[in-house]
Amino acid sequence: MSYNIAIDGPAGAGKSTIAKKIAKQLQFIYVDTGAMYRAMALFLIRKGIRPEETEKISATCEEADITIAYENGEQVVLLNGENVNGLIRTEEVGNMASASSVNGDVRKKLVKLQQELARKADVVMDGRDIGTCVLPDAQVKVYLTAGSAVRAQRRYQELMAKGEQCDLAKIEQDIIERDHRDMTREISPLRQAEDAVLIDSSEMGIDDVVDAVIRLCER
Ligand code: DC
Repeated sequence: MSYNIAIDGPAGAGKSTIAKKIAKQLQFIYVDTGAMYRAMALFLIRKGIRPEETEKISATCEEADITIAYENGEQVVLLNGENVNGLIRTEEVGNMASASSVNGDVRKKLVKLQQELARKADVVMDGRDIGTCVLPDAQVKVYLTAGSAVRAQRRYQELMAKGEQCDLAKIEQDIIERDHRDMTREISPLRQAEDAVLIDSSEMGIDDVVDAVIRLCER
């Protein structure tokens, strides 16, 4: 049986940074489920579909073939065969991913893919509904969070480092809106699973969080 670690939490809590480090240390596969929702969002944006066009989203998401591959240990998301890793990390795509991920048809398609990956291999998987819905039997579940100001600051620095123009107040506003949408949607909203361990990383360094999760795995 494969060993699964589920990490959920709001935008900018540090899930992917932490999950990647844990995967490396334990030689597990890292699965970034947000990237799959982002690839779907990119597909919908390219089709000119707006977040509120629910029926169009349901009908069109079937045409998106999303798969993941690994190149030099990095997850690569393929959208109808095209490597879209370099195109999905924008605020526009993130906001569309949050809006379109409320759609049941989008979720059904991507959850199936995520469950198949976790059945075949030991994984560290991060997202919003991993502990509650995708991998309810995961051996270790973590709910990683931090205050919205801290998360906005981290996102701001990430974008600045990439040379993107951004405004800190707008980023925090987007984060608050995204949290609200992710936490209040009808299908698999973001929430802490009953058996998940809460880690607030507001005042913790990356390595402290990684160590805390590794200790949970050793228990
Ligand atoms: O983690 P992220 O910022 O890359 O995720 C983008 C959006 O995708 C997020 O706002 C909500 C959605 N998402 C989801 O609904 N379920 C997941 N397991 C992962 C992401």
